[in-house]
Amino acid sequence: MPTLVIVGAQWGDEAKGKMIDVLGSDSSVVVRYSGGNNAGHTVIFGGREFKFHLLPAGILHPGTLSVLGSGMVLCPSGLLKEIDDTRAKQAELGDLLISAAAHVVLPHHRRLDALEEEARGKGRTGTTSRGIGPAYTDKVQRIGIRMADLVDGPRFRERLEAVLEFKNRLITLLGGEPFAAAEVYDEYAPMAERLAPWVGNAEAAVQNAVAAGQHVLFEGAQGAFLDLDHGTYPYVTSSHPVAGGACLGTGIGPRDIDNVLGVAKVYCTRVGEGPFPTELDNEIGARIREAGHEYGTTTGRPRRCGWLDLAALRHSCRINSLSGLVMTRLDTLSGFPEVKASVGYEGLDGMPQTETEWREARPIWRTFPGWTGDLRSCRRREDLPAECLRYLEAVEEFTGTPAAILSVGPDREETMILRPDLVWG
Ligand code: IMP
Repeated sequence: MPTLVIVGAQWGDEAKGKMIDVLGSDSSVVVRYSGGNNAGHTVIFGGREFKFHLLPAGILHPGTLSVLGSGMVLCPSGLLKEIDDTRAKQAELGDLLISAAAHVVLPHHRRLDALEEEARGKGRTGTTSRGIGPAYTDKVQRIGIRMADLVDGPRFRERLEAVLEFKNRLITLLGGEPFAAAEVYDEYAPMAERLAPWVGNAEAAVQNAVAAGQHVLFEGAQGAFLDLDHGTYPYVTSSHPVAGGACLGTGIGPRDIDNVLGVAKVYCTRVGEGPFPTELDNEIGARIREAGHEYGTTTGRPRRCGWLDLAALRHSCRINSLSGLVMTRLDTLSGFPEVKASVGYEGLDGMPQTETEWREARPIWRTFPGWTGDLRSCRRREDLPAECLRYLEAVEEFTGTPAAILSVGPDREETMILRPDLVWG
């Protein structure tokens, strides 16, 4: 079973970066399939901390090819900075291939992100302000600029002039300063030149690796409930973080995917606006935030914290067709006298459907005895405190999905692979 998709099973920030780093060393190819530098992965490697927003964590492994798929939106300056910063810390990196079909995030996208958020007023999304939504809007509007256009000088200039003529009208209407195409071109042409050697037919490279039976890891960004279709719309991102996005954003088909692992914390967090039924806007939530250092990698914003939403997690298992769960942060909840999880919502049969149902959803709580002790030294399931094991079993039973991997700390060693058969088969 050589292909594996790793997705965020909640609202993002589930510690996927660590998992991709742990499993990436066994992969020939690591492919990111959606989103842009709204994502943030922290990886501890060789005693150093790396923060990735665009590059797959596979880049740290010299024998691994890292691919940025067609489903992504790429900020050239952010990408180059990340490549330079990573190189400065570690000389030898893996190869990089950028899909010619990935879309480019340009300054007008960031300006529109800010202007559109302001125009939404009370209904603001709380975006990461990286221009992600407006870049995907251009893609869907069929006026986007792709990496293939960026690296083709005359075409880039021509496309930029046409797009800015359109978008400047919108920017001006919303009270912003328009852009001069010539200035944007002059700023971006040198970046395009640097990126050009990495831009190519990423879809063929991924298809060939899959056909050759190599280990190919598809790296999700954000989380299932930020998915444009399956998330808490309209408080979502503009791409497809769910497992199905791995097909859309890389050029493979559903039958090419063997295993799907969903990463979930033993509690929940969310950044930005939007419904969060199990949120704890109280001292327990604050305690989780401090214990788990729950501040955004990309924006530094404090994350909203709450108990595990088991009903939502079960739904996530279904929309992602999860083979197994990767439960993270078991160590963070150590020391809480009791731990709660929501097993449904009052008066609702199943998941909330509408924005109003999501906003008004009241959790049906199940309470578990808490656990104590330093879990970071646990290396086998049996090493866990009995209360923690019981909680874990309840999660598996309720979701109908086995825990394939457990994480008890930020380091690679603080990981238990319980079901290798659900990883590479
Ligand atoms: P955007 O992706 O910047 O358009 O933001 C849309 C929503 O998704 C906001 O609520 C963001 O906070 C959230 N979001 C985007 N990327 C991430 C992520 O990597 N982790 C958690 N939340 C994210």
